[in-house]
Amino acid sequence: MKVLLIGANGQLGSDLVKKLANEQLVSLSHQDIDICEPVGTRVTLRRYAPDVVINTAAYHKVDECETNVEKTFAVNTCGVRNLALACKEQGCALLHMSTDYVFGGDTERRTPYTEIDPTHPINVYGVAKLAGECFIRYIMDRYWIVRSQWLYGVAGASGKGGNFVELMLRLACEGRDIKVVDDQVGSPTYTLDLADKIAQLIKTDHYGLYHITNVGECTWYEFACKIWELSGLNPNAKPTTTESFGAVASRPAYSVLDNAALRGIGLDDMRSWEEALTDYLEARESLGKAHR
Ligand SMILES: NC(=O)c1ccc[n+]([C@@H]2O[C@H](COP(=O)([O-])OP(=O)(O)OC[C@H]3O[C@@H](n4cnc5c(N)ncnc54)[C@H](OP(=O)(O)O)[C@@H]3O)[C@@H](O)[C@H]2O)c1
Repeated sequence: MKVLLIGANGQLGSDLVKKLANEQLVSLSHQDIDICEPVGTRVTLRRYAPDVVINTAAYHKVDECETNVEKTFAVNTCGVRNLALACKEQGCALLHMSTDYVFGGDTERRTPYTEIDPTHPINVYGVAKLAGECFIRYIMDRYWIVRSQWLYGVAGASGKGGNFVELMLRLACEGRDIKVVDDQVGSPTYTLDLADKIAQLIKTDHYGLYHITNVGECTWYEFACKIWELSGLNPNAKPTTTESFGAVASRPAYSVLDNAALRGIGLDDMRSWEEALTDYLEARESLGKAHR
């Protein structure tokens, strides 16, 4: 199978490169393709004639998105539309990455969201990503839309210059007083595990919408405490609230995703977020990323 991967040197993209090593893989970085350019996107797809396109490209600095609305929609909505049109013209399938931030408006919710739950984004990024999903559904028949959340991987999010795990390790090593939000609940997800599941999914013809995350849930503070515990660190850290933290963009208080559709097609649940985190910390150590 010929797979064209967009965002190949990003956090998820670089783990997909590892998991798709046995496929005929075309790995494209932002320098090779800009999905905001409709003509260039069509020409690139025609040149490589893939069977499947995987799109990990996004503008996902969630707080910046609130003020940089044009860019948010240019990449996450219009760029996705350009790609869907090019895939349709080329006759290839598309796997596109989306987000738990399509949810959040139901402030009472405390049970995992399934794929059939109504969406209700509460920030500009979530609105733009949901609009991107809508364009794919409207334009294409053969697509997989994968929503995931709280991603971390050894490459770090190139759009954000790192990931939450690395930030928590760095702050602890610098001996800082740390405050971490303790009233947002999600499922931390290791991009290597997600990439493995995506590699399985694109071999099926079970098209549609999927939630894919590591199993289990925690707050950002609980996630941080587990990172420090597993790394033998004991920083001066305190839980705080979303309100006191005062981020620019609103974020869901609860956005855990039930991976119901994945189970429905007979693919196993991913391992727990704690097991995945343990492996991640070992992987980063073996890459020489010391935390002290
Ligand atoms: N990170 C999370 O916690 C999270 C949570 C839920 C969902 N997601 C979704 O998962 C996907 C992957 O996230 P990630 O953390 O792996 O992100 P990432 O590391 O920032 O990777 C995104 C890649 O896309 C490239 N890109 C950006 N704009 C582009 C454009 N216009 N055309 C082509 N390439 C472009 C980036 O290149 P440059 O950096 O060179 O611009 C980067 O290599 C995204 O769709 C994101 O919305 C992420």
